[in-house]
Order: sequence, then structure tokens, then C-alpha cells
Amino acid sequence: MSRRKQIYEGKAKILYEGPEPGTLVQYFKDDATAFNAQKKAILDGKGVLNNRISEFVMLRLEEIGIPTHFIKRLNMREQLIKKVEIIPLEVICRNVAAGTMAKRLGLEEGTKLPRSVVEFCLKRDDLGDPLVAEEHIHAFGWATHAEVDEMITMTLRVNDYLRGMFGGVGINLIDFKIEFGRLDVTMENGSVAHQVILADEISPDSCRLWDRDTDRKLDKDRFRRDMGEVTEAYTEVATRLGILKEANNVHAPNLSVVSNDD
Ligand code: CDP
Repeated sequence: MSRRKQIYEGKAKILYEGPEPGTLVQYFKDDATAFNAQKKAILDGKGVLNNRISEFVMLRLEEIGIPTHFIKRLNMREQLIKKVEIIPLEVICRNVAAGTMAKRLGLEEGTKLPRSVVEFCLKRDDLGDPLVAEEHIHAFGWATHAEVDEMITMTLRVNDYLRGMFGGVGINLIDFKIEFGRLDVTMENGSVAHQVILADEISPDSCRLWDRDTDRKLDKDRFRRDMGEVTEAYTEVATRLGILKEANNVHAPNLSVVSNDD
């Protein structure tokens, strides 16, 4: 690997300086963490799968007009992305009660919600990413009213699209988490404005995905809850989406992938 300046190292990804100004390289690690990094493991091939699945999802979302940070995949573990200022909020969208919502509201996991619900959590690992109200977002200036409106609108569009996309391959989208960033855009008159775009990743690390017929979990809950066969489940998601050629190509990092450039 060439010597590049590391900008940031997170739990599952590393960001490097990109080849051109305004770009970064996002590297997907095999590290898995849960419960605020109290539980850790290396899952062989997870990074390769998430790089592929996130690429696939971001490209589809671009097609329906959702602006994203994704530029192109560079290799098995890296993608070129636009550099943005990350808005310090995790935006969660839920269709079915699970995880913290099920616990907090005393709902049985698997209960269908009356409608899709969007929640905001503050990105603060040291506080366990607490749920926050829009009031907090405005009072503390984490995002403007217009940005909050845009994030909600985009999140609901992402949800509609992803529900259909996963539904088409027999998977129920229970919930997911996305993040947004501010991109500097130069206007015709030379002034600079911020555009809110989708950032980070969308993968089985950040979604709850249940098989439609059996409710089998195909996401990071397999790791959180010690259910085993984590990369096998991620591989199944990739295979169903048509990203992997065959379901048995799970022996990463030499994953056999549908590709014409690597
Ligand atoms: O996952 P957990 O039960 O801790 O929290 P949740 O609020 O029920 O998570 C809702 C959705 O957001 C799940 O699909 C999680 O995988 C995802 N999430 C995430 O990707 N990153 C976080 N820091 C928190 C939640």
C-alpha cells in the first residue's frame, strides 16, 4: 500500500487523504465492534463485503437522485469519496421495533410500527450515542432547521427505496442508521453554499435485515448476539443483491466478485 496520510481511524473504517483536493479514500476494515466497542472481533472478509454492498447501495441511491459522497470503488477494500464535514448526528429510520427502541418502549422485537419513524442520536461514543430531540439539535446548533428537514426527507426516501430493493430479494428492512455530511458547493455567483449529502456507509453493519420467510437475521445482530455465521449472512445479502457470483464464495479476502476492474 502506498504511503498516504491517515485522516481518521474509526471502529470499522479508516479515512486517508484522497488523490485530489476534496476527496478521501475510505478503507473498510474487518474489525467488528458492538456495545460501544466493549465487544470486538475480526471477521475475515467483512470489509470486502461492506465495501461492495455500500457501493451497490450508494450507486442505486444516486440513480434516484439522492446525493451521496461515493465517487467510485478503487479496489476490494477501498472507495474514493467526497470529503465532507460530517453532521454529528446518526439518523435512524425504523419500520419494525428492534434493538434499543424495543427495549426503550417495551415493544416486542418484530412488532411492525404504525409508520416509519426517524430518530436522531448524537454522535458521541463516550456517551453511547444518546437519542436527542430536534429541540436539542437546534438549541446546540448541531444542524440547522433546513438541514434537519433535508435529512428527514432524504432518510424517508432512502427507506422507501431500500425497503423495495431488499424486499425484491426476500429481505425485510427492519431499521438502519445513516449519516450525512456538508459538501461545499461553489455557486454561479462565486459564493459557497453547503449541500447536505449522504455519507459513511450503508451495509449489514448499519442495517437490520431479516429474511422475509424465516426472520433469520442477516446483519450485525449476529455478531452482537453471538449468533455465529456473521460473514456468511453478509455474503448472503451480497449474493441476493447480485453482487457476488455464487453463494459459496465466502472465503474472503479472495472473494469472487462480479466485477470488470479487479
Ligand atoms: O443497534 P442497537 O440496538 O445498539 O441500536 P438501535 O438504535 O436499535 O439501532 C438501530 C439501527 O441503527 C440498527 O440497524 C443498527 O445496526 C444501526 N446503528 C448503527 O449502525 N450504528 C450505531 N452507532 C447505532 C445504530
